[in-house]
Amino acid sequence: MHINSTILSGQGVLNDLHWLFKAHHHVIFITDKNVINLPQVSSLLATIKTIVPVVTCIDDIPPEPSQHDVANVLAKLSLPVADFVIGVGGGSVLDVAKLVSVLTVANNNLTLKQLLDGVQPLRRCASLLIPTTAGTGSEATPNAILAIPEKATKQGIISSVMLPDYVCLAPELTSSMPKMVAASTGVDALCHLIECLTSNLSNAVSDNYAVLGLSKLFAAIEKSVVDKDNFGARLNMLWASYYGGAAIAHAGTHLVHAMSYPLGGKYHIAHGVANAILLVPCMAFVRDAVVDKFALAYDLLPDAQLALTTEEKSYALVDYFSQLIVRLGLPTKLQQLNISSHDLPYLVDNALNVKRLMNNVPKPITEQDVLAIYQSLL
Ligand SMILES: [Fe+2]
Repeated sequence: MHINSTILSGQGVLNDLHWLFKAHHHVIFITDKNVINLPQVSSLLATIKTIVPVVTCIDDIPPEPSQHDVANVLAKLSLPVADFVIGVGGGSVLDVAKLVSVLTVANNNLTLKQLLDGVQPLRRCASLLIPTTAGTGSEATPNAILAIPEKATKQGIISSVMLPDYVCLAPELTSSMPKMVAASTGVDALCHLIECLTSNLSNAVSDNYAVLGLSKLFAAIEKSVVDKDNFGARLNMLWASYYGGAAIAHAGTHLVHAMSYPLGGKYHIAHGVANAILLVPCMAFVRDAVVDKFALAYDLLPDAQLALTTEEKSYALVDYFSQLIVRLGLPTKLQQLNISSHDLPYLVDNALNVKRLMNNVPKPITEQDVLAIYQSLL
């Protein structure tokens, strides 16, 4: 997997992007209804329009987009071929931008249906992704997730060709997130990092990304949620999110994400919130299989007690996660999301079916184990 995007980062970086647009003739600018109203984003779009002859703005990407939403985007394009796709938004917007970058490039002759059927794209047009949340890390992953309403499921399209030429990490954009969104998306990034660090597929490259991301995240997550104008903390969270995505590209998440999928799919619970509820019991379950990795992560905490034994550090990390979720004001029980014991059979069945991620769990896991974790949250 190659992740060779050029990264432009820092407060005010959006004002220095003119040089990126000069060589292009048709830009497709993809965002959503909220993000387009941010002054920095409307200003960026206005700048692009003064430089590029043809600019198509698609500003209505919905959360959790479906294959039909992407088909609608393609149908709206008066010119079917572009030479630069820019995505500005959360993970949903960035995923759509990645797909459009391979579907609107000249000579690709590729359809969305072919992508969904597993045909791999060979090329894309130039692309720039600008995240406005610090959590999904979509700008660093080869994945685009689409809802398939006819099957009541989601499907991932995975190709390293979709990784962008440029990523722009601008902390002033993420200060528009409501406090709870900052908290839950930040915990999503935390889950990417700690799950990839302990995944069966982890390797030296993903471990490096995970350690870099965790050190930034531990120092910044609470500061960034409490103070939306702490741009230093916001930028560290953007880097943590990026490193989480990069770790996913090289390893993969496991138990938290597998068990949160059905909470999002059927009950439409926000992805970060579902992960936040599951983080502590899932990490407590895998702890004994990954003691050394947990101790490594614990040592990255700003107030780590380095004199603890490795075993003690692994327990202390789970304790830290537990206290963090409470301090961030995120829910800790399924009842807070209107889910009861009647829902457990559905949740267990569907979590076990996320085999791609369950295979990454670093110890054997049974149906009873999954049920017990959900039950502990009632
Ligand atoms: Fe996630």
